[in-house]
Amino acid sequence: MLLAASTQTSIGLVLLVVAFLVGIAYAFINIRQSRPEVGSEIELAANRKPYLSDEELEGRKLDRTLSLGLLGLFILGIGLPLYWLAEPGRQEGAAERISDEFVKRGSEMFDVTANGGYNCAFCHGTNGVGGVTPYTITDAEGRFVKQVDWKGPALNTVFLRYTRDEVRYILEYGRPFSPMPAWGAKGGGPLTEQKLQELMDYITTFQLTPEQAQAEVTGQLDKMMKTREPTCAAAVVEEAKVGLSDEELASFDENDATLQARIDSTCPPLYASEGEALFNMGYDDGFAGGAYSCGRCHTKGWSYGEKEADGGGAFGPPLTNVLNQFPGSSLGPQQQVDFVCNGSEQGVRYGQNGQGTGRMPGYCVTPPYKINAENGEVGIEPKDAGTPDQGAMMTQEQVRAIVEYERSLARD
Ligand code: HEC
Ligand code: HEC
Repeated sequence: MLLAASTQTSIGLVLLVVAFLVGIAYAFINIRQSRPEVGSEIELAANRKPYLSDEELEGRKLDRTLSLGLLGLFILGIGLPLYWLAEPGRQEGAAERISDEFVKRGSEMFDVTANGGYNCAFCHGTNGVGGVTPYTITDAEGRFVKQVDWKGPALNTVFLRYTRDEVRYILEYGRPFSPMPAWGAKGGGPLTEQKLQELMDYITTFQLTPEQAQAEVTGQLDKMMKTREPTCAAAVVEEAKVGLSDEELASFDENDATLQARIDSTCPPLYASEGEALFNMGYDDGFAGGAYSCGRCHTKGWSYGEKEADGGGAFGPPLTNVLNQFPGSSLGPQQQVDFVCNGSEQGVRYGQNGQGTGRMPGYCVTPPYKINAENGEVGIEPKDAGTPDQGAMMTQEQVRAIVEYERSLARD
């Protein structure tokens, strides 16, 4: 037990032993120096021996004692405030060490290769940039239906769309009817509260800023708006190949500028509006594992490349009811934009009869990053949630475009 003691305990023990030895030595010397009182046969207490004279007492000895007292006061007067000043720094240092440790352990769980890894990276990509994972779809009785490749959404923006409590909930219980398993003990998974906390602390270290996320969206949107309807584009290419010799076919370049121009002028764009493209961002090329899209939750089959009608409903409700949920031709769209910007909150009602569960992410207000002190969480500073016009994952303008598209999907 002594060997296992911390540095502080060991120093304390050494000091204790030293103090004890000095005490014994003092008692020994004191006893040796005591003399029997003159004229008495009984041995008397040491303090009854004749002591120093007044001159001696009030001279150097007094000065020495007073100086020692002054030195003691000085040490107390300077030392205590200094200690007090350094204390917050010391505590901060301790908290930082703990959160560094948490981040390190979180990264080990996140990675594929590390010991005891939980392979988040296998489905969500290294550094959570998004990925894809094989998955078996089963029916209600658990019978095999088909094998698919399911998109794993990027996690480098997860705190731009969810609060920490909402992310904890997802980790705890997973996402039913998707490849995302339950990780927390409450959901039947292998990890304790603290392990989930370590994962979340690690995930915060690779989050994009709102500016970076918006730049990603703008770049990808640009690319999507230039994309032409693929069957038509393929037909134009085939047509251009008609009548070519084998030699010409061998050097045929599909990216040829004139051919591309012909495709652009003949074929309709793949997405008719920016709203439709944003709603489906990542569907064709797996961009960010679909993290920016709405379709992955609101369209059946979206995540494995077999999407049914846009907004037909999947994990999130069908969007065919939004004109009733957010009624009115000017008030309605604005309320819907506000809702999509902020996302839903558990137990908070929205629209006409919506009941929030906290599962609908927010797209243009970064939710407050609240450390849950009741859960004993430490570290990581809260982020400034910002305002809708600054945007989060998306700008408010982009959300407005999506809402316009969603309202066009609505049926009465
Ligand atoms: C077997 C694949 C797989 C593994 C392993 C996995 N996930 Fe997931 N995860 C998914 C999929 C797929 C989704 C999206 C489900 C959907 O389409 O609704 C998801 C969703 C999430 C979400 C919600 C994202 C959002 O915006 O909706 C979070 C957070 C998350 N995972 C974190 C993790 C963490 C942390 C780990 C490691 C402990 C992990 N996942 C391991 C497949 C996986
Ligand atoms: C991670 C899954 C998920 C994603 C991604 C998602 N939603 Fe949702 N959405 C939900 C859920 C779940 C609800 C139901 C409200 C709740 O449970 O809090 C919802 C509700 C809504 C509603 C209200 C519908 C109604 O009639 O009550 C609208 C509108 C909406 N989402 C729009 C969007 C838009 C626009 C996007 C993309 C920018 C999007 N959602 C992305 C899960 C999602």
